[in-house]
Amino acid sequence: MAIDHTVKPGLEGVMAAQTRLSSVDGEAGELIIAGFPVEALASQATFEETVYLLWNDRLPTAGELAEFRNALINQRSLSVLSLRVLEAAARQKFPAMDALRMVTGIADLRDAGVDPDSDAMGSAIKLVASFPTVVAATARLANKREPIAPRADLGHAANYLFMLSGKVPGPEQVRAIETYLNTVIDHGLNASTFTARVIISTQSDLISAVVGAVGALKGPLHGGAPGPALDMVFEIGEKSRAESVLREKLQRGERLMGFGHRVYRVRDPRADVLAAAAERLFRTEADAKLYELARHVEQTALRLLGKHKPQRKLQTNVEFYTALLLHGLELSSELFTPTFAVGRLAGWIAHCFEQQRQNRLIRPDSEYLGVKNRQWVPIEER
Ligand code: ACO
Repeated sequence: MAIDHTVKPGLEGVMAAQTRLSSVDGEAGELIIAGFPVEALASQATFEETVYLLWNDRLPTAGELAEFRNALINQRSLSVLSLRVLEAAARQKFPAMDALRMVTGIADLRDAGVDPDSDAMGSAIKLVASFPTVVAATARLANKREPIAPRADLGHAANYLFMLSGKVPGPEQVRAIETYLNTVIDHGLNASTFTARVIISTQSDLISAVVGAVGALKGPLHGGAPGPALDMVFEIGEKSRAESVLREKLQRGERLMGFGHRVYRVRDPRADVLAAAAERLFRTEADAKLYELARHVEQTALRLLGKHKPQRKLQTNVEFYTALLLHGLELSSELFTPTFAVGRLAGWIAHCFEQQRQNRLIRPDSEYLGVKNRQWVPIEER
């Protein structure tokens, strides 16, 4: 096959896979998830329904959904080994994403009666079911509190909030977290999803793919931005300070967290879905003033970014309202990226299944820029 010698840094504009999972149109600001516009799916489906949809390319019937929910409920708890690792990670104050990566690597599959090499669906269910338990236990241990066992009478999203706080969440809170998890479940060939596909394309296993994806998601240019985005809103503190604080950041060459995207040149549609969910939640549950402040910060940032980089068309991305929504659900900022992982995990797995069905080892080329005529010098002569 002829090699295209044009180097595309960041693989920008390169089509590297065909997928039925999601379509991201950065010019139109459109996100389709398995056939549904994100706006229609995220605010109506339960998380379990969306996972089923991605893994089966259709919505479940009531009976199929009940069966799928039960399969997840049965695999929520963690082994003693995983809990010991989380305790050790908490003692050493490892960040939550590092703890998640470590325990994902252990994955209690054999404890759960799943053979990781031959049972991909069993592995997938164990991973999705237990991720919230890992994140919630990490959060509680970091605050020197006992982890809370999962509750079989709660759905996936509600149980996650329950394991974090010990309180059964109200319907508005459940709707808000469910909307969030659905919104972030899949998004084209983003960095963590690509990582997962690269790993599974070597015929490695699902756990390895997910461990790699967790590592990719951790970085601030991908899933690590919502904490800093919220810090920025708090740092500004009141509407009158927004302009001066943001101007100074841009003058210092800093990036405004929660703005800009590799693909979107218009507003990220997920930002609208989450802004609406945040508004509903803040009206009923949390501090409406913070929502108003965030809206003002967003408008000011967009105005300043428009002048700062007019060609780049920098717009609000998903992370800005993620921060606000998750804060409204009383999640601390260390939990924002792990909670993103709780949702995106199901998308990573769907991509792994898809890659396995049409597998071709992912192995791009690189252009060599080094010299070719070095002479070997023995170590004692260097
Ligand atoms: N604030 C200020 N300037 C910015 C921002 C921003 N948020 N984003 C991009 N720019 C500037 C860059 O400094 C660069 O300027 P230069 O040409 O003078 O060097 C120019 O715009 C182009 O930026 P790129 O880095 O080429 O844009 P890229 O497509 O690689 O980056 C990214 C996208 C990483 C998201 C970037 O916009 C960014 O760093 N945003 C802030 C972090 C963030 O919000 N991350 C979450 C992304 S959403 C997600 O992954 C789920």
